[in-house]
Amino acid sequence: MTTLFANACVRGDDSRTLGLCREYLEGMPDVVEIDLGALNLRPLSGEEVSYRMQKQAEGAWDDEIFSLSHQFAEADDIVIGAPYWDLSFPSVLKVYIERVSVCDITFHYTDDARCEGLCRAKSITYISTCGGFVQGADFGHEYIVGFATMCGIPEVRYVVAEGLDVVGANIEECLAPARAAIAKLRS
Ligand SMILES: Cc1cc2nc3c(=O)[nH]c(=O)nc-3n(C[C@H](O)[C@H](O)[C@H](O)COP(=O)(O)O)c2cc1C
Repeated sequence: MTTLFANACVRGDDSRTLGLCREYLEGMPDVVEIDLGALNLRPLSGEEVSYRMQKQAEGAWDDEIFSLSHQFAEADDIVIGAPYWDLSFPSVLKVYIERVSVCDITFHYTDDARCEGLCRAKSITYISTCGGFVQGADFGHEYIVGFATMCGIPEVRYVVAEGLDVVGANIEECLAPARAAIAKLRS
């Protein structure tokens, strides 16, 4: 069973979110990690959209432009790690999703025009940390729930640690509820 870890923790080893992800993934076999920052992904340009549409029309599914999409669609399980930035997540994750989300790989339209997911994974585990408090406004999490639905992935498991940048915050205490949630998910 392959677990795909999409790492959008752009601060690397300094990232508290990445620390939580590592705790969640510890000892899991067959984890394929992609460091989204290191991929240097650009937003899809008009030219790339045209190229991709041409390849879709040709059925040239082995073209390099579809590689991230195939990898996502074929993963047995998916973990996304992303800090809470500006009410959602770092833009590198959105750019990644632009490249993952491809009609006839991650989803398709049925004859009666319904969008139907084609991905194998049964869940996405979305792990985040927040400087303040999400207070019901984690549009990043909501977006991932919507995207999972589009991909046919029935469950999103959400772990978030809050209040990490509040002056005087005890970081270990802030992380504790998320660590407990991770321990429960792993058990
Ligand atoms: C560009 C940027 C945007 C941020 N936006 C928010 C925000 O909207 N609300 C908030 O509470 N914290 C915000 N923060 C703080 C981060 O959520 C917080 O520091 C988080 O723990 C960072 O995770 P990391 O340690 O994994 O990098 C932001 C931080 C950065 C660098």
